[in-house]
Parts: sequence; C-alpha cells; structure tokens
Amino acid sequence: MAFLSDTLARVKPSPTIAVTNKALEMKAAGEDVIGLGAGEPDFDTPQNIKDAAKRAIDEGRTKYTAVDGIPELKSAICAKFARENNLTYTPQQVSVGTGGKQVLYNALMATLNPGDEVIIPAPYWVSYPDMVLLAGGTPVAIEGPMQTGYKITPDQLEAAITPRTKWFLFNSPSNPTGAGYSRAELKGLTDVLMRHPHVWVMTDDMYEHLVFDDFRFVTPAEVEPGLYDRTLTVNGVSKAYAMTGWRIGYAAGPVELIRAMAKVQSQSTSNPCSVSQWAAVEALNGPQDFLAPNRVLFQRRRDLVVGLLNRAPGIECPVPEGAFYVYPSIAGCIGKTSRGGARIVDDEAFATALLEETGVALVHGAAFGLSPNFRISYATSDAALEDACRRIIAFCEGLG
Ligand SMILES: Cc1ncc(COP(=O)(O)O)c(C=O)c1O
Repeated sequence: MAFLSDTLARVKPSPTIAVTNKALEMKAAGEDVIGLGAGEPDFDTPQNIKDAAKRAIDEGRTKYTAVDGIPELKSAICAKFARENNLTYTPQQVSVGTGGKQVLYNALMATLNPGDEVIIPAPYWVSYPDMVLLAGGTPVAIEGPMQTGYKITPDQLEAAITPRTKWFLFNSPSNPTGAGYSRAELKGLTDVLMRHPHVWVMTDDMYEHLVFDDFRFVTPAEVEPGLYDRTLTVNGVSKAYAMTGWRIGYAAGPVELIRAMAKVQSQSTSNPCSVSQWAAVEALNGPQDFLAPNRVLFQRRRDLVVGLLNRAPGIECPVPEGAFYVYPSIAGCIGKTSRGGARIVDDEAFATALLEETGVALVHGAAFGLSPNFRISYATSDAALEDACRRIIAFCEGLG
C-alpha cells in the first residue's frame, strides 16, 4: 500500500504473532493449550512498590513530569548504578522512558543515519533489528552458536566492525538464550572495542538480577572503564521487580546522548507515567530482599526444564547462566515427520506441529536469528512446565 512509509516496509511483522494468534484461537475453541511464550515473571509486583504507587496517586502526583524522569527517580537510578555496578553517574546522565524498549529506541533514533551499522549478536531479542531498521540504520548480526554457549567471540566482533559501525548492541544475560558473559568473556569483547574508538556500546542489562549458580553479572563500562564515555547502559524494572505493565526503563551515558534522547522523547510520548515513576523509586530504593528467593525459584525451574528437555530425542538443551529462557537446538528433529503427518522442515514447522498436536505454544528460533531452535520462557508454574515438557518429549518420541 503506497500510503505507508518506505521505512515501515523494511520492518518485518513480528514472527511470533502467528504462533501466538494460533494459540489464542485454540484456547478460545476450548483446547488445552500451555503457553510458554510470554517474557514476563509470573508473580505479582511486590506490595511495597504497589503501595508507593497508591500513595503517589493519593498525593496527586498525577501530572506531567520532566520529560525524561523525575529527579527522585534519577537519583535512585544513580544510587543503583553506584551500588550494583560500580558506575558513577550524575542525574544529567540518566534518561527514564516508557520501558527499556523506548529507551533503546530513543537512543537509536537519536543517533542513526542511513547506512549506519549496528552489530547485534544472534540469537537476539526480536525487537533489536527492527528498531534499527525503523531508525534508518542497518542491523549486522553475528551468530553465537550453541557450541560457544550462544556467545560471540572477540574475533567475530573484530571481523564485523567496519567504518560504518556506530553501535555494538550487547545483551547479557540474553533473551532468548539466557547466555551470560563472564567478566573474562566480556573483557575479550571490550578489548576489541577499545581498538575501535568510533564504535559505541549499547548494553541491555535487563536480566541483571536473574543469574544462577555462581555466575556474576558484569556490564561493559564496569569491565572496561575506558569505554565509559561511549557506553549507554540500559536497564529497567520490568523483569527484576515483576513490573512489566508499569512501563519504566532507564539508561545512563554521556550527557550529549542523554539530551538527544530526551529530545526524541519530548516529541513523541513525553514523560513516562508519573505514578509508575514513583513506583520505580520504591523498587530501586526499597528492600531488595525478594530478589534472592526469586533467583532460587527460577534456577529450580531452569533445572527442571533443562533436565526434562534433554530427555527428548532430537533435542539438545544447554544450561543457561541467567534470564528465564532456554533455547534448545532441535537439529535432531529436522527432516522427520510427526505422528500427525507434519514434515519438520524447520523450527517454525516444529513449533506449528507441536502446537497443533500437543497444545504447547513456544517461539521458534528463526524469530531470534538462530535456527533450528526454540525458546521456552520458564516464567510459569512448575506444574505447567512439567506438563509441557512431557508433551514435548512425547512429540519428539513420535517423530519418525
Ligand atoms: C532483552 C530485553 N530488553 C528489553 C526488554 C524490554 O523491557 P521493557 O520495555 O519492559 O523495559 C525486554 C522485554 O522483553 C527484553 O527481553
């Protein structure tokens, strides 16, 4: 349709929508569907945070605020970066938006010119490449295969950098794989970046608090202080504090970039919801004691899912370091035929047949830029996870 913009034509419709719609249709028809697609914690926002929001409403904090965040929240964010990441920022270096998603989008809109390249390790969060396209840039994916724990190597990064590279968009722990880079692994990448001063780093630390075993989260500007002046450190309250619906994300970085991002936001959405900002102040400044039990809960679910999936013929599921996703390979299932007669030609065919024949809804790997795989979000009850994994095992046993 000529009426729509050329830019929009470059953006793919969400590849996850087909499976989601199909699952919804089946549910509406009364079928027994288990959804493992949602990327959000399955528990409620902590009470102290809800109370802070109620207080904000009662105190009339219901008007426009400063475009990129109230001073109280910016202070809380500076304190968080100092406390948890050994990073010193002033409030002028902080931007608050309507979710980490808007913050990432603002940064890309504020900096990309046509032809500018953004290096994105694959598998990646579905939105990265399309946000880059919307902002007029060119996404450049580098594949981190299962054999390297879904992580890229310094040599791969070095080879992908060109004079047009503007950003390296980094995400650890990762959606969709749960892969987390250790300090040594990240140092390998930051050493490469130190040799290329024209490349900036956008790091999406959304899953910082969801890490398991003895994995220790680190962020690029902490590992390599020499990158501080060209790093945008992005984070948010959605995943750690079970606040996906409140829509608060934030970033810290050089003042000039932060001002440019505020300019984009000022002409699009203005401030993020005032009440949500006060809730986020409480999330960051209030008690943090529920984070540790959540980590234990998610780790237990991870182990449950990994253990069960590895029993399914044709599936290989590595153990992720963090987040609440697993990203098994289904290479051993490709080319087979399901009991229902579906040819498993690729991971999309696997996901479709699995949904139709067993009622398990998950997202196929092609959506995230690495196949043949699928992503399961294990942010759901143990009972649902066990049921779903047993259905997957039975489905794979039926492939011939
Ligand atoms: C890697 C990653 N970054 C950013 C986001 C966006 O989070 P929000 O916009 O809710 O802050 C998500 C949400 O799924 C995510 O998985």
